[in-house]
Amino acid sequence: MQARLARRVNAASVVLGAVPLLILAARGIWWDLGANPVETLTHTTGAWALRWLLASLAVTPLRRALRAPWLARLRRTLGLWAFVYAGLHLAIWLLLDLDLDASSLVSEVTERPYITLGMAAFLLLLPLALTSTRSWQRRLGRRWVRLHRLAYAAATLGILHFWWLVKADWREPALYAGALGLLLSLRWAHLGRRAGGRRPAVV
Ligand code: HEM
Repeated sequence: MQARLARRVNAASVVLGAVPLLILAARGIWWDLGANPVETLTHTTGAWALRWLLASLAVTPLRRALRAPWLARLRRTLGLWAFVYAGLHLAIWLLLDLDLDASSLVSEVTERPYITLGMAAFLLLLPLALTSTRSWQRRLGRRWVRLHRLAYAAATLGILHFWWLVKADWREPALYAGALGLLLSLRWAHLGRRAGGRRPAVV
């Protein structure tokens, strides 16, 4: 019963993750990407990378609250979607903004702080995506859990990257920062309870 529910929730998250991408592709096919298509592509993929990353981090507190260990797979699927969108975001920028010019890449990364922050966020997501399989989880044991805490750092850098580039309306990055703050508080509260000796049922 639970295994079937887990499979269904996971399948739904696989489909859900693809939706913004399909909408973007459809808009591209219909020439409906606005006055600046490259900007639309960069912004949409960047925004969804951050949204899926935060959604993946929300799975653990949800799993604890519902006492539903089978939700663990959802965190992995959403995290992988975050990586896919971040990869596309980077690829679009490299290909359409920089024309794959290596010297521009170096100067952009070293001279523009928001690009440095975005690149750092991406580089943190990379080992998480590469070690997201069960075999890596088994191989790394406790170290896997520690490594995957980097997702919080990647989200922090992703939000700073976004905040840095907004010119006037900071409401959206502020919303993401609030969501991350809430997730971190839930995590610290959980760690505090654990340190206090009350081991929760779902770890
Ligand atoms: C891999 C290195 C990265 C590069 C080179 C990069 C570059 C960019 C650029 C050029 C923009 C548009 C800036 C403008 O408006 O002029 C942008 C926007 C954005 N990026 Fe990145 N980025 C990177 C990684 C990331 C990552 C890992 C995330 C999320 C975790 C992210 C999230 C965002 C968001 C949320 C926006 C703004 C979207 C919006 O306006 O709605 N970026 N990025």
